[in-house]
Amino acid sequence: MKRFFQSIRFQLTLVLVLFVILNTVFITSIVLNNVQKGIFDIETKRITVVANQLSERFDKMYFAESIARNYANLTPEQQNVLIKTFLKPVFEDYYNNFIKNFPELEFGYFIPVLNSSIVYNNNSEQYRFDKKVTVVEPVNIGNGGGYIFVDEPYSVILKPLNQIREDINRIIVYSAIIAILLVLIITSIFTMKIIKIRKGLKLLENNLDFRFQKSGGEIGDIASSINIMAEHLKKNVEEMQKTESLKSLGMFTVGVVHEVRNPLTSIKGFAQILRKKLQGKEEEKYIKPILSETERLTGVVNDLLRFGRPSQLERIDFNLSLFFDHIIEMGKQYAAKTQIAFVKNCDDIIINGDEKKLEELFLNLVINSIQAMDGKGELSIIARKDSDSVITEIKDTGLGMDEEEIKNLFVPFYTTKAEGTGLGLAIAYKVAAQHGGKIEVESKKGEGTTFRIILPLGAHNAA
Ligand SMILES: Nc1ncnc2c1ncn2[C@@H]1O[C@H](COP(=O)(O)OP(=O)(O)O)[C@@H](O)[C@H]1O
Ligand SMILES: [Mg+2]
Repeated sequence: MKRFFQSIRFQLTLVLVLFVILNTVFITSIVLNNVQKGIFDIETKRITVVANQLSERFDKMYFAESIARNYANLTPEQQNVLIKTFLKPVFEDYYNNFIKNFPELEFGYFIPVLNSSIVYNNNSEQYRFDKKVTVVEPVNIGNGGGYIFVDEPYSVILKPLNQIREDINRIIVYSAIIAILLVLIITSIFTMKIIKIRKGLKLLENNLDFRFQKSGGEIGDIASSINIMAEHLKKNVEEMQKTESLKSLGMFTVGVVHEVRNPLTSIKGFAQILRKKLQGKEEEKYIKPILSETERLTGVVNDLLRFGRPSQLERIDFNLSLFFDHIIEMGKQYAAKTQIAFVKNCDDIIINGDEKKLEELFLNLVINSIQAMDGKGELSIIARKDSDSVITEIKDTGLGMDEEEIKNLFVPFYTTKAEGTGLGLAIAYKVAAQHGGKIEVESKKGEGTTFRIILPLGAHNAA
């Protein structure tokens, strides 16, 4: 029930209904008032004309009689007799015919020379106590004076008003119904959109891959905002899962590696002793692979330890440009027998971080790039400051990767190389995360790869 009162539909309808009621009251009363005034004016004028016609008629009749019968030379008594005989019936005749033309009006007169009391032709008992508009027209005093009056009951005058009132009310009610229908339609569309959003959000609870279709209006804006939020959320969750699984995998790895490391040292030690003993003998050739393989295994074990061991950062401030000079130097050594060109573009940026670990990070990326380029190409390191972080791009013109490869990139032990451990990028990722940074990849099969490493400048530079 509370929901219903809070619904847009209810509130809009309520506003509309209030609007309609106020309109009805105000418009009707203002319009009717004005119309009423107008009607009264017109009616009063009309009645006045009617009354005037009667009184003028009487004056004319009297005048004609007085000339024809030479009233001037007669005594009042003689005049009275003549008036009663000739003028009175003629006037009464005229009067009775005249008032038949106006059935809606009431007539009356009091004319002393006609020697009668007040004549009053009221329409019916119905209007007896009604308010009336009355016009009184005097009879010329020279003709004996008196008056003629015409009246009309208010209720007769205002009859047309009822029709107008009905018309206005009908217009208002119709427009209100249309408006309410429109509100219902609009709110229904609106509600449908909201329901879609609600359903979508429910879907999103279980599936972060769900996205809303593009649509217009404010609801469309909300939907696309939700899409963007879902995208961010998905990224964050994936990132977290990655970090989490890296952490547990790291702990597992360290356990295993410790078991391997000591026997490996013994094997290496004994193999070296054996090599000395077997020097010059035929069996010496069996020792060589043991030594080279244990060498390789030691490398793997060290990588595993670097990847798995939880460790604190040892932060210092250092110049990133000089740091990359050093990285490129090592890269060049690694790529000594190739025709790979190195490019560096980096401002003098001071960064706060664990230089040794960051060296591991960037060296891993540089070595991967060199390995991807098969002897020739260009490797560039471009770094620029961006508010409180530094963005470094390591770009190669190597063999590139497809979607599937990019997806597995940071998964520990994922490698496409016969001699690879698949730990380089996992370590790089971990170092970046430890610094509060991240690594992004862009790559196209056959065209090359760009790794983008975003690192906060660190505590000293934050301000
Ligand atoms: N610059 C690059 N170009 C193409 N592929 C790359 C690049 N960097 C990494 N890769 C791919 O990612 C995989 C994982 O890399 P990494 O974790 O360093 O392990 P490894 O180098 O031991 O294989 C590589 O085997 C390779 O397939
Ligand atoms: Mg590698």
